Amino acid sequence: MNLDEIRLVREKWMTWKNIKPLREALAELEEIETECIFEDTVEITSKQTVDVKKIEKVAKEMMPWRKGPFDLFGLFIDTEWQSFFKYNLLEPHFNLRGKRVADVGCNNGYYMFRMLKHEPELLVGFDPSALYKTQFDFINNFVKSDIKYELLGVEHLPFYEHKFDTVFCLGVLYHRSDPVGMIKDLAKGIEKGGELFLDTFIIDGDDDICLSPEKTYSKIPNIYFVPTIKVLKNWCERAGFINIEVLDIISTTEDEQRSTPWIQGQSLENFLDSQDSTKTVEGYPAPKRAYIKAERK
Ligand SMILES: C[S@@+](CC[C@H](N)C(=O)[O-])C[C@H]1O[C@@H](n2cnc3c(N)ncnc32)[C@H](O)[C@@H]1O
Repeated sequence: MNLDEIRLVREKWMTWKNIKPLREALAELEEIETECIFEDTVEITSKQTVDVKKIEKVAKEMMPWRKGPFDLFGLFIDTEWQSFFKYNLLEPHFNLRGKRVADVGCNNGYYMFRMLKHEPELLVGFDPSALYKTQFDFINNFVKSDIKYELLGVEHLPFYEHKFDTVFCLGVLYHRSDPVGMIKDLAKGIEKGGELFLDTFIIDGDDDICLSPEKTYSKIPNIYFVPTIKVLKNWCERAGFINIEVLDIISTTEDEQRSTPWIQGQSLENFLDSQDSTKTVEGYPAPKRAYIKAERK
């Protein structure tokens, strides 16, 4: 199948029985003139009188809300992740003005909304989740940006219509069973001399080794490889990147990730050993992430 055929198939995901009612609720939202503030909280305000109860009902139907937070006309969507921790760590390291930018694994688009003030030439989000695309469309209904959201995955980047100057791929690598293949796919989507920003779980140590969780890691089922920094750099070099820079290494805390009424479920506090927070419930080292920047060779 070519990309247009894949897009057509995925458009039909919007008619799934859990997504269709959300799309219908979206279509019924009234037109509102808005102003947006893209700070730690992506905030939408209006001088008009807004039916916030109606907006709250639609937003609640779209739970769980993982990435954010958002404030819609005074309705605070307190997402599981305080995503500004990650965004604010990365922002001093990029300049997106006039660039073609992709956020691969963009979730509901929180980072892309924040990137708007950099005035990129083009901003494209890739994420094969019908729910997260619906959350994006809900927020963008008020933001009215021309961000493009593709229901495509990282595996489609090599076949995309054009390459990008800057690609973000945050929190995706550990979900892939072929991490080097994934970084190669990213490389194929980036112009020579372009840049990649990536973060992933890592383990401490200087050896050429990876943790490969038996079943779950931090109660997450689809985590395949957690490398040392040395291995992560090696993967990037093998995939076609140079000048690999470690921007930061951070242990996840409950300030950044915690359960809120907007996810109705467990979060970091339930994923760590209750007697020893340096370990996950499975006995592995607690989540620690490396943030890297690399140049396409
Ligand atoms: C752990 S979340 C990370 C979200 C965000 N990038 C961040 O760092 O906060 C992983 C995201 O990857 C998306 N995803 C799943 N399969 C993918 C694929 N094949 N290609 C790209 N993204 C994918 C999920 O829908 C989800 O939004």
